Amino acid sequence: MKLVKTLNFSTIGDNRGSLIALETLIDIPFNIRRVYYIFDTLSGVSRGFHAHRDLKQVLICVKGSCRILLDDGKHKKNIILNNPQTGLLIEDLVWREMHDFSEDCVLLVLASEYYDETDYIRDYDNFLRYL
Ligand code: TYD
Repeated sequence: MKLVKTLNFSTIGDNRGSLIALETLIDIPFNIRRVYYIFDTLSGVSRGFHAHRDLKQVLICVKGSCRILLDDGKHKKNIILNNPQTGLLIEDLVWREMHDFSEDCVLLVLASEYYDETDYIRDYDNFLRYL
């Protein structure tokens, strides 16, 4: 799936533990306008089920694990995020779902735009038509 890329972040570790720093246009290939995080997800709950027209995002599971299902209308791909060193870059029009959140999962999302409900495509058939 060409619209999705994995980013590997370097950890600055020392005898106290680990730290990762992410800088706009250096580690993240867009201007970060918004940050949000999903946590305390109840057991068995899935989220997402939408695509974005213009938004770019990087998803980082900073704690625990979850499964991201991506669908470009032709192919589906499952990606397990379970590592704070890995970012999942999603650009362009991709249907995304989030599943299998571990109890301790904290999913950090860096986004290129402010929240805008009109950028969402929340109906799968509309997504396929829009493609
Ligand atoms: P929703 O889009 O359902 O989350 P997800 O796609 O992760 O399942 O968002 C849940 C609610 O939070 C919805 O009322 C919109 C609001 N929201 C914001 O106000 N700002 C944001 O940046 C996001 C992502 C959601």
